[in-house]
Amino acid sequence: MPTRDGPPEAFGSPYRLLSTAVTPRPIGWISTTSEAGVDNLAPYSFFNVAAVDPPVVMFAPVGSEDLKDTPRNVRETEQFVVNIVTRELVEAMNATSATFLAGESEFVHVGIERAESAVVDPPRVAAAPVALECELHDWVEVGGSVLVLGEVVYAHVDEGVLTDGQVDIEQLDTVGRLAGSQYASTAGRFGIDRPS
Ligand SMILES: Cc1cc2nc3c(=O)[nH]c(=O)nc-3n(C[C@H](O)[C@H](O)[C@H](O)COP(=O)(O)O)c2cc1C
Repeated sequence: MPTRDGPPEAFGSPYRLLSTAVTPRPIGWISTTSEAGVDNLAPYSFFNVAAVDPPVVMFAPVGSEDLKDTPRNVRETEQFVVNIVTRELVEAMNATSATFLAGESEFVHVGIERAESAVVDPPRVAAAPVALECELHDWVEVGGSVLVLGEVVYAHVDEGVLTDGQVDIEQLDTVGRLAGSQYASTAGRFGIDRPS
């Protein structure tokens, strides 16, 4: 098969290449609270698990000269909550990606119900079936950008997505981000045996 080869810039831009080829990406819907006490909520699909012992997740703000509200709040307070996005929540998640002023809360403007967190100050999304309370583990500068790593210190899981005490992927209707405004549901699941 012929290939086109070259540095990332040859394919539109590094962002374009990476955000279209590395798909689908999970979405961390991240709630934070500013030092001034304003709650913030925004989606980040440069998001994933970074380690399991200790349990660490990561997200990366990209594409902006100034720090976005989410990383700025994490730098100030060293806390955040990752809310897992399901098909039912995807429209609300999308609405929170609009640009709001730092003093405006997406919870209020989009009309999203909050629930108290147990260990950290930022609230969680009441309707999210899984929410992971995190404390800042590390803040890694990558060129002009930043990678935020958070240790999961507490989890909330809706009983409805648990089977035998464990999260059941058949019940958790997560979505993934493709490029731009395109998403993938996880409805077309299939199984394949791992080689021994
Ligand atoms: C599904 C989705 C995923 C996104 N992922 C990222 C991301 O990984 N990094 C990023 O900087 N912005 C991402 N954005 C854009 C931010 O959500 C947007 O810039 C938002 O206004 C940031 O809010 P904040 O300033 O309150 O943190 C994403 C938007 C959507 C809809």
